[in-house]
Amino acid sequence: MQSFHIAVIPGDGIGKEVVPEGIRVIETAGALFGFRIDWHPFDWSCETYLSTGKMMPADGLEQLRSFDAIFLGAVGHPSVPDHVSLWGLLIPIRRAFRQYVNLRPVRLFEGMESPLKKWKPGEIDFCIVRENNEGEYSNIGGRLYEGTADEMAVQQTVFTKRGVDRVVRFAFELARTRKRHLTSATKSNGIIYTMPFWDERFQSLAQEYQDVRTDQYHIDILTAHFVRHPDWFDVVVGSNLFGDILSDLGPAVVGSIGIAPSANLNPEREFPSMFEPVHGSAPDIAGTGVANPIGQIWSGAMMLRHLGAHAAADAVEQAIAKVLANSTVRTPDIGGSATTVELGRAIADELRTNTTSRT
Ligand code: NAI
Ligand code: MG
Repeated sequence: MQSFHIAVIPGDGIGKEVVPEGIRVIETAGALFGFRIDWHPFDWSCETYLSTGKMMPADGLEQLRSFDAIFLGAVGHPSVPDHVSLWGLLIPIRRAFRQYVNLRPVRLFEGMESPLKKWKPGEIDFCIVRENNEGEYSNIGGRLYEGTADEMAVQQTVFTKRGVDRVVRFAFELARTRKRHLTSATKSNGIIYTMPFWDERFQSLAQEYQDVRTDQYHIDILTAHFVRHPDWFDVVVGSNLFGDILSDLGPAVVGSIGIAPSANLNPEREFPSMFEPVHGSAPDIAGTGVANPIGQIWSGAMMLRHLGAHAAADAVEQAIAKVLANSTVRTPDIGGSATTVELGRAIADELRTNTTSRT
């Protein structure tokens, strides 16, 4: 029997609540599709930071390196500054393992209500490809004259040819598997060195992908188009910052950030890739047991696809779609009163029923 070794980092807040539901559904898929998962939990979190002074041990990345993939909940707690928790765990993993693509699908399911009511299920279905290793999220910079009237802060944005090309190329390849349309997020009118460079690289690579239709928008009007014309998009590629912003906006347009998944991919597979929901640790609802587990479960489906278990990944996504369309088991963010566990169970049950009836 095929088996996968997965590092699990539930993290903080609702991460600890939605990860078990992700595991439940993937375990169900394993039983049905004939693979075994060996889950290896790590308690790295803000709690660990408060007791040890480190988000993860000094050899943390070494410990993760040999796994087939990393399944992560969310990291962040009001007791630890966000830049400490982010740079102590998530960003080192994304960078050390060259997970330079952050892939974030956005889809309007039947049974989900878009706040933009006129859209029908299927009419909104696009993917955001976020550059995940460089760009605006650099640690080059510093502060001067701290604590005085002259205090100042400088932070550099870093765009490399290699870094831009590899993520844009990934986006072109992804567009080829979909509707062959790629949109680039830019701001070359205001940010006059790095963004024109991004545009140049995009246009240069477009020559190699003449079968893919391309367009580009400045990020400000692009956010407006996400709301007014979400049906225009197929694959959207953006820098680290623009991709981050667009991938909270996209899921909001299709109903709830609670269902949005993401994959931090190292396409060359030299290192493990990492799968996590788009949302954070939601301290406002943590501990109440009502977080929506679908973002975590759908991230699990993306993980299965990455590991080559395509049929299982499709079945999990279909189970999510079926439950959203037909079931009254819904968490409060999508208009119901079910708990995290009830929704996780409903998806696992649907997966079981559907798969057994087909085989
Ligand atoms: P957040 O995503 O945690 O929450 C934003 C809003 O969405 C909240 O009202 C929350 O209740 C709601 N929400 C999020 N996920 C939900 C779910 N599954 N079901 C139902 N409602 C859900 O973002 P926020 O508040 O900006 O950040 C909270 C903490 O999470 C911070 O410490 C932040 O740094 C961290 N964070 C971590 C991320 C990660 O681990 N990748 C990503 C984003 C934030
Ligand atoms: Mg974000």
